[in-house]
Amino acid sequence: MKFIAQTKRTNYCGDLRIEHKGQKTVLMGWVNTRRDHGGLVFVDLRDRAGLVQIVMNPQEAACQAAKDVRGEYVVAIEGIVRARPEGMRNKNLKTGDIEVEAQRVEILSEARTLPFDPSDEKVSETLRLKYRYLDLRSPRLQGHLIKRHEVMMLVREGLHAKGFVEVETPILYKSTPEGARDYLVPSRVNPGTFYALPQSPQTLKQLLMISGMDKYFQIARCFRDEDLRADRQPEFSQIDLEMSFVDRDDVMAVAEDVVRLIWKRIKNVDVGPVPVMTYTEAMNRFGCDKPDLRISWELKDLTEKLKTSTFKVFSDVASRGGAIKGLYVPGAGGFSRGQFDKLTDKAKQMGAKGLVYIKIDEKNQVTSPVSKFFSETELRDIYNACGGDATRGNGTVFIVADDFSVSCAALSALRLHLAAELKAIDTAQDRFLWVVDFPLLEYAAEEKRWVACHHPFTAPKDEDLDALVNKRESEFSRLKAKAYDFICNGNEVAGGSIRIHSGEVQKFMFDALGMSEDEIKLKFGFFIEALTYGTPPHGGIAWGLDRLVMILCGTEAIREVIAFPKTAKATDLMAEAPSTVSRAQLIELGIRLIETGPV
Ligand code: AMO
Ligand code: AMP
Repeated sequence: MKFIAQTKRTNYCGDLRIEHKGQKTVLMGWVNTRRDHGGLVFVDLRDRAGLVQIVMNPQEAACQAAKDVRGEYVVAIEGIVRARPEGMRNKNLKTGDIEVEAQRVEILSEARTLPFDPSDEKVSETLRLKYRYLDLRSPRLQGHLIKRHEVMMLVREGLHAKGFVEVETPILYKSTPEGARDYLVPSRVNPGTFYALPQSPQTLKQLLMISGMDKYFQIARCFRDEDLRADRQPEFSQIDLEMSFVDRDDVMAVAEDVVRLIWKRIKNVDVGPVPVMTYTEAMNRFGCDKPDLRISWELKDLTEKLKTSTFKVFSDVASRGGAIKGLYVPGAGGFSRGQFDKLTDKAKQMGAKGLVYIKIDEKNQVTSPVSKFFSETELRDIYNACGGDATRGNGTVFIVADDFSVSCAALSALRLHLAAELKAIDTAQDRFLWVVDFPLLEYAAEEKRWVACHHPFTAPKDEDLDALVNKRESEFSRLKAKAYDFICNGNEVAGGSIRIHSGEVQKFMFDALGMSEDEIKLKFGFFIEALTYGTPPHGGIAWGLDRLVMILCGTEAIREVIAFPKTAKATDLMAEAPSTVSRAQLIELGIRLIETGPV
């Protein structure tokens, strides 16, 4: 350890440039590669900033250690930066114009052979996650973590400048319903009772408004025990904020400004005005509430046009109040029967009973499984009604007839799938969108009760308050909420709402959700009471920090932007969590495990 005691590091490896020529430098890092050449040892030394080539001569007394240096050893070197000889420059490396001639080499730490080569893309995810700290040596993942840090710094800078105060809220808390299961923590000192880890700081941030904090934010850890997907983790981070004395547009303006700051400083992109679309419009035009606007194709409603059709599927759906929806896909005029079968399966996975297509190929031939119910002129007319040009062809119109939600879900899934397949996503620009006026409530058929679409603290639109308060259940499905989502490239990156700020109305809401008086008191008594002591009108929003960083890093996997992520089964393969605990610990907590066989 002589080196560390005597000499300080002067540069990061990856920062050296031709301007440093002739300078003395002290570097410390990992041996990325080692090559022997005519008695000299060439080492690419790596640190957080990148790689630089070091030339070591083991014949020199101070460089003898070069003989023993191996891959992933941690090494300190002192040397002189020099220009690489003409013809030896490496354009692919930021430090490729120079190399460092070592005058002294010391091994700080040896390394066993790694269980895998982090740069090998074929290595399984399981092995990578088990040795996550080694995978994190890759410049890609380090770059993602650094970008994440930059985003957090910008959020703090931007919100601080707007007068927001960062307040930490507890992790050991009580259940806050955000639609997932809770993670529970048993209390030793209060046997038989449990804390719940917060699904979000929702009630806490509202309580801070009641306290008079006026503008709160927090980069908050949230915990949700739900089925995981590529863009979901059981613990994740939100950029959470809440403001008093505001309406929807005030919250949306602040949120947009933060996004503008991040995109400007990280991507040097000016985010223009963000379009606002109602939930109803988004569903009608794109079949989903988080449309990817980088795809230009839109759904068309064909119910009116096809309601009198002799094809019974269409006329039946129309007469029972369903929706017949069409989607024109340009460039899909060469699809084969096999391809259509696969697409039909895809539509069926989304609940559709089938998929009608009208294909016009490059020779202007029309093909459709429903040609016996429609004349060619009619098929061409439907094709045009969906936005195609039947005189030119090379496209396909897809039609699904079902309940509105099923027709939308099936065609929206096809829209995303086919746009990716046909390379019809314009990736040149990120596309942002606000979706507003969400439904307040939806009926959960299995539970036989109404649930809040956003969360139960969301205020109904003023004109819909009366139906909620007077519990006119027949109207519940059409009630709208003062809720808004922020969408980027088809991802829901943020969601928020104006809140109910009256204890009475909050009670009506819980009642509408089927909670008994006792249950309301037990779960939310403290909160409803708090609302009665002078509550400012307030609202807020929360971004999924991980999703935001995923977009900025151009990755589809949330694991790519989290230092120590969990698997799809919510396990940590490295530390082997969750794990069993000792009997003594269980006894201390008053917990007895039951055998759970197959349920
Ligand atoms: P919501 O539940 O919509 O709102 O969450 C806000 C944002 O958090 C992100 N997100 C997730 N990211 C990763 N993994 C998950 N499992 C996960 N779940 C959600 C999404 C989402 O848009 N308290 C409210 C906010 C408010 O009303 O102010 C809330 O949590 O990007
Ligand atoms: P069939 O009359 O069952 O042979 O169906 C004819 C075509 O209609 C097939 O291509 C089916 O996939 C399609 N189809 C059946 N039901 C629906 C539906 N609800 N919406 C759209 N297409 C359907």
